[in-house]
Amino acid sequence: MFFDFTEEQLMIQQAARDFANNELKPGVIERDEHQKFPHEQIKKLGELGFLGMMVDPKYNGSGLDTISYVLAMEELSKVDASASVVVSVNNSLVCFGLEKYGSEFQKEKYLKPLAAGEKIGAFCLSEPEAGSDATSLHTSAIDMGDHYLLNGTKNWITNGGNASTYLVIAQTNPAQRHKGINALIVEKDMEGFTKGPKENKMGIRGSDTHSLMFSDVKVPKENRIGDEGFGFSFAMKTLDGGRIGIASQALGIASGAYELALQYSKERRAFGKPISGHQAIQFKLADMATEIEAARMLCLKAAWLKDQGLPYAQASSMAKLFASEVAMKTTVEAVQIHGGYGFVKEFHVERLMRDAKITQIYEGTSEIQRIVIAREILK
Ligand code: CAA
Repeated sequence: MFFDFTEEQLMIQQAARDFANNELKPGVIERDEHQKFPHEQIKKLGELGFLGMMVDPKYNGSGLDTISYVLAMEELSKVDASASVVVSVNNSLVCFGLEKYGSEFQKEKYLKPLAAGEKIGAFCLSEPEAGSDATSLHTSAIDMGDHYLLNGTKNWITNGGNASTYLVIAQTNPAQRHKGINALIVEKDMEGFTKGPKENKMGIRGSDTHSLMFSDVKVPKENRIGDEGFGFSFAMKTLDGGRIGIASQALGIASGAYELALQYSKERRAFGKPISGHQAIQFKLADMATEIEAARMLCLKAAWLKDQGLPYAQASSMAKLFASEVAMKTTVEAVQIHGGYGFVKEFHVERLMRDAKITQIYEGTSEIQRIVIAREILK
């Protein structure tokens, strides 16, 4: 068992760390407060190759491994989880799905600009009445011969407002339940496609989350990913990888809050010494550091399995379940260590605490991760 990173992996980690500190940190409080999408920062991340990290260079990607992706996601998320979710969704849910299961035509037309960061993608599975229960989709894609007629509503779609390419999971044949579902590529300008207003969220407020409405949208057959009826399997397989991205985001939120709390505890004095000199604070710091390290190991293990071509559904759910719980717990403790200062925006930890919550909800709640893990171990 090796715990060393390659020089390339360390270089990516450093590049992400520098970007987070130099480009994301200035303005992160303001973007959160005013719900501003990080347009400029996402454009630069695209130019640096962070939006198509694992895509083959022949499709404009960076050709990196999943370990590098985890390292980069942790660094970006330490500072700005709103920007890092854009990176995660574009890489894991959109580029990965298109590269692994898309046709050559789809890769040329849709993957290339997404991997280059010229366009942003969105993954559209959740609906007003189908979040965790993903086989109960109401959005319909009726087979009209040379195209599908798409009707329905999708909810909570990350990148919903700024994406150009949407992977929409819809039901074509309800009698066949999950085997009647298709994944379709929808372009932002297709007739009949409209967006609801941006959601006013508790956390990751810089990211844009929208509901999307489809009314008789004609989607050409060539935009179906994989064979007829492959859509549910496509969504599940894609989410397996997506969960590594969100687990790493949760890890970054936790380690960002921990680093701030550690620093603060050395500077803040009480009862005649820095608060880090008090055992009450030391115990908190020790627990935070231990749990973060365990979360990091789970993220890296899932990434390693994926890179080796080994099954990783269970590992990615374990990583997401554990890292998101660590993110929530650590950020609450980081606010506590900061005392009153933790409750105001300038000190960053209150934002990280709000951002942490979504990692226990999106790309499958903690309860869904437990279902996936239990099914795997009981197989
Ligand atoms: N890989 C491949 N196939 C899979 C799979 C996987 N990981 N998981 C399930 N399947 C297959 C099963 O084998 C089965 O196929 P067969 O019958 O042919 O064997 C089929 O899918 C149906 O499986 P189940 O009967 O187990 O389905 P279920 O209805 O019990 O649900 C579930 C399973 C795991 C709970 C699933 O519904 C699920 O993951 N739900 C959560 C969905 C989710 O994560 N939503 C988040 C939205 S995306 C998002 O948040 C993006 C964003 O913007 C940030």
